[in-house]
Amino acid sequence: MTINSKAVMNKNTKLQEQLLCWFRSNKRVLPWRKTYNPYHVWVSEIMLQQTQMERGIQYFTKWIQRFPTLDSVAEATEQEILKYWEGLGYYSRARNLHRAAGILKNQYGSEIPCDIVSLLDLPGVGPYTAAAISSIACNKDVSLVDANVARIYSRIFDIDKQVKSGPGRKAIDKISQELIVPGQMRFYNQALMDLGGLICIPGNPRCSKCPISFHCLAFERGTISQRPVSTKKKKNVSIRMATGLLVHRGRIFIQQRQVGDIWAGLWEFPGGQMENGEHPEQTVVREYLEETRLRVRVTGEITIVTHSYMHYRVTLYCYYCELERESEPVLTAADRYRWIGMAELREFAYPAGHRKLLEYIETNEQDRLVDICSTSLQG
Ligand code: ADE
Repeated sequence: MTINSKAVMNKNTKLQEQLLCWFRSNKRVLPWRKTYNPYHVWVSEIMLQQTQMERGIQYFTKWIQRFPTLDSVAEATEQEILKYWEGLGYYSRARNLHRAAGILKNQYGSEIPCDIVSLLDLPGVGPYTAAAISSIACNKDVSLVDANVARIYSRIFDIDKQVKSGPGRKAIDKISQELIVPGQMRFYNQALMDLGGLICIPGNPRCSKCPISFHCLAFERGTISQRPVSTKKKKNVSIRMATGLLVHRGRIFIQQRQVGDIWAGLWEFPGGQMENGEHPEQTVVREYLEETRLRVRVTGEITIVTHSYMHYRVTLYCYYCELERESEPVLTAADRYRWIGMAELREFAYPAGHRKLLEYIETNEQDRLVDICSTSLQG
């Protein structure tokens, strides 16, 4: 590895000064940067995990309008929290935020602590998030390493090891400790984030615009395209699923995902993965039987939606269905169910595929669904 600690120290002062100077005039205008209110910083950090900046800003702005204080989060129902998170994915973040708000209200007088140990005790707060809150909200002298920081340092110090774990990660952690600027970490850490988001981006970085390219060993040696050393990407897996919108006596069946499930608390129409050789209509019938003990028959196609999560690409075949014979549902995959009216559909939070299906129905299928509901009332 090409890290010489002395060289690091000799170069450091300038690197940090230049980065801080660049940040003062180039920083992104972000809503949580207006006041550094610790509650705002906390919410922004949780939202920005696995989320693009533009999307994060949109959700953050709506969130703060509805939940202006930590207490307002603690006092909300999980259902409402999930509704405001709907579409962001990784819903355990929302559930943890909700739980952490309760703990902060009851045990910390609704104040967000600044020390790493207390922060790490909160649900959903790991080492990166704790360091981000402690430095950005409280300006504590702590360094942090996320994907942006790892990429920047792997280039600046031309690290020839993978940076996600092992010796590469250790080297990055050591560098980030050595580069702490006392009293300036609120700005220094955000300067790294902005540099990583605007200039030292993955793929083709904008080195001609980089305020610290002069310090960059990979730039000097022509190894930028090889840094950071790539980790093997997981292959995308395609899966085919089918779901059915069951209408009975003018109402629609929804069920709520079980505790412990990645979509716990979200609502859905029963359905699941297609088995080998199965037609999607057969999947709907089988899944209804397995998940609810209800016998249904498919009455029409709605649409096919596609969406991606983690490394899955999902094709979801969507149908209308009706009860073949009336009976009480017995749930095996969900905690509770409801029969709801059409107008209530939008009040619940759904996983991405079902949300796309509902958006499709809202734009294209309103009249048809009204007809199906009223016919089922007469039947
Ligand atoms: N990414 C994660 N947290 C961020 C922040 N506070 N500012 C900019 N980018 C970020």
